[in-house]
Amino acid sequence: MSDTPAIQLVGLRKSFGAGEHEVVAVDSVDLTIDDGEFFSLLGPSGSGKTTVLRMIAGFELPTAGAILLQGHDVTRQAPYDRDVNTVFQDYALFPHMTVLENIEYGLKVKKVGRHERRRRAAEMLDSVRLGNYGHRKPSQLSGGQRQRVALARALVNRPKVLLLDEPLGALDLKLREEMQVELKAIQREVGITFVFVTHDQGEALSMSNRIAVFNLGRIEQVGTPREIYDHPETSFVAGFVGTSNVLSAALSHELMGVAGVHSVRPERIRVVQEHTAESEVTVAGVVTDVQYLGADSRIRVELADGSPLLANVPSDGLVGVAIGGPIRLAWSRFAAFAVADTVPLHDIHEHDIHEHDIPQQHQQHDIIHSQGGDQ
Ligand SMILES: Nc1ncnc2c1ncn2[C@@H]1O[C@H](COP(=O)(O)OP(=O)(O)OP(=O)(O)O)[C@@H](O)[C@H]1O
Ligand SMILES: [Mg+2]
Repeated sequence: MSDTPAIQLVGLRKSFGAGEHEVVAVDSVDLTIDDGEFFSLLGPSGSGKTTVLRMIAGFELPTAGAILLQGHDVTRQAPYDRDVNTVFQDYALFPHMTVLENIEYGLKVKKVGRHERRRRAAEMLDSVRLGNYGHRKPSQLSGGQRQRVALARALVNRPKVLLLDEPLGALDLKLREEMQVELKAIQREVGITFVFVTHDQGEALSMSNRIAVFNLGRIEQVGTPREIYDHPETSFVAGFVGTSNVLSAALSHELMGVAGVHSVRPERIRVVQEHTAESEVTVAGVVTDVQYLGADSRIRVELADGSPLLANVPSDGLVGVAIGGPIRLAWSRFAAFAVADTVPLHDIHEHDIHEHDIPQQHQQHDIIHSQGGDQ
C-alpha cells in the first residue's frame, strides 16, 4: 500500500448540453480515495455517481476540475492510458468464448505471451472461486458466476484501481448478498482500490471502508459507514441512509430547546409510561400504525402539531399500544443530532410506503420528515 492517494478529485464538474438545456450532472466534487480502500459512491438515481466514475475511467471529460491517479494528473489522458479497469452492471462477456478465453482476452490485446496469459487467467479464476469453470461458455453459468467472470476479467489486468458501477444490480436479493461478501473478500485478497457505485445503502454500509453520499451532483458527506449512519451531517443523509426522523427547527426547539433541524433514529426511541430521566426528551402522541416485523415492531405516531414520528421498539414492549390510542415516547438527548437542512425530502416523502411491498434497494426512501402540517 502506498501513502499517495489512489484517486484525487479536485473541484470536479460536469455539465451536459448548453444554455437553458444545460444539465449539471456533477458539481464541485472534491474527494480523496486512499490506496487499497473499498470506497462507495452512494446516492439516489440521477445524483451523478456514474458520471463521476466515467470521468475517473476517462470515458467522459470534466467540464472543470482535475483527476489525479497515484498523484499524476490524468484529466486529459485517454482511458487506455489510465491504470484503471471498469466492471459494468451488464458485464457483457463474449458469448462465443469460454470463461478462460474471456478472462485472457485483455492480456492477449496487451500481447502477453500465451503461457503467461493462461497461468494468470487460471490464477484469477481460482481467486473468484470458479477454478473448475474455465472451459464453460458464459451461457452455461448463473448470473452470479457471470458477474465473477467479469470481475476476474477486469482484475487479471492488475489495475491499480477497479471501478464498479452497480455490479450486483442484476442479481436477485439472495445472490446479491452472497456476492457482497465475496466481493469484499476478493478485494481484501487482491488489495486493489475499489470504487463501488450503488444506490443501495445496505450494500454501501456493509461493504465499504468509506462512503461518499451524493445528492444532486454534489457530495453531502464522506465518512466510514458508522460515521455516516450514526452522525449524518445533513437532513438528506439522515433520510437516505437508513430511516430517520427529521425534526423541523420549530419542533426541535419545542421538544429539546435546541436550535436547528435535528434527526433521531427510530431505534433510539422508546415507549415509556410517565416519568423519565432528566436527560431524556419525552413526547406524547397518537398511534397511527403498528407494523409487526418479528422481534421488532415499527410504530407510527402523530404528534400534537401533526408531525409524524417513527419508533422501532421490541415487539414484547407493545403492551397497551393500540392504533388510535395515546402513546408516550422518549429518547436520550444524545440520540438527537443537529443536521444541516439540505433536503429535497419532499420527493422522497412520496416513496414512504411499506417496505414489504418494495424491493430492498428502495428501502432507503422510507423516511419521515416532520415539518408540521405543510408537507
Ligand atoms: N450524456 C448525458 N447527456 C445529458 N445528461 C446526462 C448524460 N449523462 C448523464 N446525464 C444526466 O446527469 C445526471 C447524473 O446522471 P448519472 O448517470 O451520473 O446518475 P447516477 O447517479 O449514476 O444515477 P443512476 O443511479 O440512475 O445510475 C442525470 O440527471 C442524468 O440525466
Ligand atoms: Mg448510474
